[in-house]
Amino acid sequence: MPAKPPNSILFVCLGNICRSPLAEGVFKSVINETGADIVVDSAGTGAWHIGNPPDPRSIAVAAKHGIDIATQRARQLHPSDFERFDLLLGLDRSNVSALRTRAPGDARGRVHLFLEYAGMGPLDVPDPYYGGDDGFETVYRMIREASEGLSAKLGARAASPP
Ligand code: 4NP
Repeated sequence: MPAKPPNSILFVCLGNICRSPLAEGVFKSVINETGADIVVDSAGTGAWHIGNPPDPRSIAVAAKHGIDIATQRARQLHPSDFERFDLLLGLDRSNVSALRTRAPGDARGRVHLFLEYAGMGPLDVPDPYYGGDDGFETVYRMIREASEGLSAKLGARAASPP
């Protein structure tokens, strides 16, 4: 954990159409309920889907759980993201590697694997792009559990004495 609890979190996957838009939407929904004031965004390391809405299967699984991510648009990770965000969370280990490769030295310590940082162990959120709808439900559940874990971790931190 950084010395101060993060005020801004960027979720990063490969395309920014399947996993990180879900992480952005679910985590925003979780922290909305807690009243925490944290800037949340997502990006992809790749450029293929810039400007596109999330994958229809991600939109559908989010909607099924009461979360609207349809207005999100994919963007690519930008060098300024390493200054703008206190915490950069990769959805899988290859995303974390790509982030660490691109991060300036002083930002590398703010790059983590999402599920690990959320207390679930060194686990990847698997890329569901080439699979079926059940893969998106699995991804949703992993992201939901991790978002609650992350929210609790940040909340516990904020509540503890300096
Ligand atoms: P995401 O999934 O990284 O969770 O957004 C992918 C979406 C598109 C591609 C790969 C992964 N693609 O190769 O186009």
